[in-house]
This record gives sequence, C-alpha cells and structure tokens, in this order.
Amino acid sequence: MPKLTYIGHSAFVLEDDDGHVVAIDPFITGNPVATIQASDVKPSTILITHAHNDHVGDAMDLAGQHGAGIITTVELADWLESQGVAGVTGANHGGTVAFPHGTVKLTPAWHSSSYWDGEKKVAHGIPAGMIVRFGGTTFYFAGDTALFGDMRLIGDEGIDVAILPIGDHFTMGPSDAARAVEFLNAEVVIPCHYNTFPPITQDPETFRAAVGKTSPETMVVILAPGESHTL
Ligand code: NI
Ligand code: MN
Repeated sequence: MPKLTYIGHSAFVLEDDDGHVVAIDPFITGNPVATIQASDVKPSTILITHAHNDHVGDAMDLAGQHGAGIITTVELADWLESQGVAGVTGANHGGTVAFPHGTVKLTPAWHSSSYWDGEKKVAHGIPAGMIVRFGGTTFYFAGDTALFGDMRLIGDEGIDVAILPIGDHFTMGPSDAARAVEFLNAEVVIPCHYNTFPPITQDPETFRAAVGKTSPETMVVILAPGESHTL
C-alpha cells in the first residue's frame, strides 16, 4: 500500500512497500511549514510540476545526492540539464513517462512557470499537473492551477486520490477547488498550497464543508505537515 506524506505547501513524498520513493515538488529548505529537513528525503524519482521556486525547491540537490531521476516539463528539464543536473526527463501535456515502479502523465494546468536565472526571471515553458500511477493507486497532483472544465477528462482516468491547491491568490481557492472535486470523482481529496505564506491563508475546514455539500462521496483528508495517509 503506498504511503503519501505531506511535507507542506505542495511538497509530498510517496513511498511503496518496495522502497521506491517519489518526491513531488520537493520545496523543503526554506519552506516555513516543513517539519523535516531535505536530508530526510531520499527519493528515487522526483516530479516537478513547474519552475516556480516553491515547487523546484531542493530538487537539484536531492537529484545529485541520491541519483534520482527528475521528470518535469520540457523547458524546465532543458534548463535543469544546462545547470548540470543529470537524469532529467522532459515531457509535455498528454504524455506519459515511466519511472521505477510507476508512471506519470502530464496534464494541463492554468498557471505560469518561471524561475530566477541569475539576475533575470525567465519563463520555463508551461506548468503541468500530474497523474501518477504508483503502488496500485492513481493520484492526481493538480500542481498550481485555476479551476478548468477539462478536469472532467482527468476524472475519467479513475483518480483515487486528488491533491488540490486551495490557497487562492496564486491558485484556485476553496470554493473552486470544491468544484474541481465534482469533476474529478476521486475517492479521497487532499488540500495543499495553503497556510505557507500570508497571501494563501485558508481554513481547510471551509474546503471540507464545501466538498461535503457537493461531493459527499469524496473523503477530504486534511494533513498537517509531516503527516501521512496510507492508501
Ligand atoms: Ni506556481
Ligand atoms: Mn506555488
């Protein structure tokens, strides 16, 4: 049974019974809510939804230290390779990439994707969401995104666990995220990307209440940083 641990913000770790460890958007160093250190995570695979620093985080260091492969969008992959990171796979929306013991399919996400390259801010292509099949469970990490109607198509993929931003300001907020839950038909939904910084302060119980009204069949699991949910 795979175990999903919330590091905080949009950073998660997935582990299966065979010791495969997948880090998603591993922003740990400098993450105000993280309860662990980057050195506590030993990933075999790293998934990055987009180039913003609150998602790339420690990915470069972790990849180097553990020989973990990185899977992300093409332009960010090119940039990471230009910085000397090895084992990077670039993909794009609609594409599926295999990693040890799992697959990831990139989906659209309505957001932006930029990074500080020295003194200048550069846009590294477009952001993505990720459908991750791992340990017999299908996860949808929405990444940073607004609500969009094609989440219905993502729902058709048979999502067990949807991980959705609820912080508002930079992404959808609780009410739009509750509408996303209607499209996704997941068994479990886990909110993220809130209460890390002042602009994204939210009470996740507001989200739970909204989902309870419109999608009572979906279980809302609210994880504090450091907490895990086993599927
Ligand atoms: Ni972002
Ligand atoms: Mn973000």
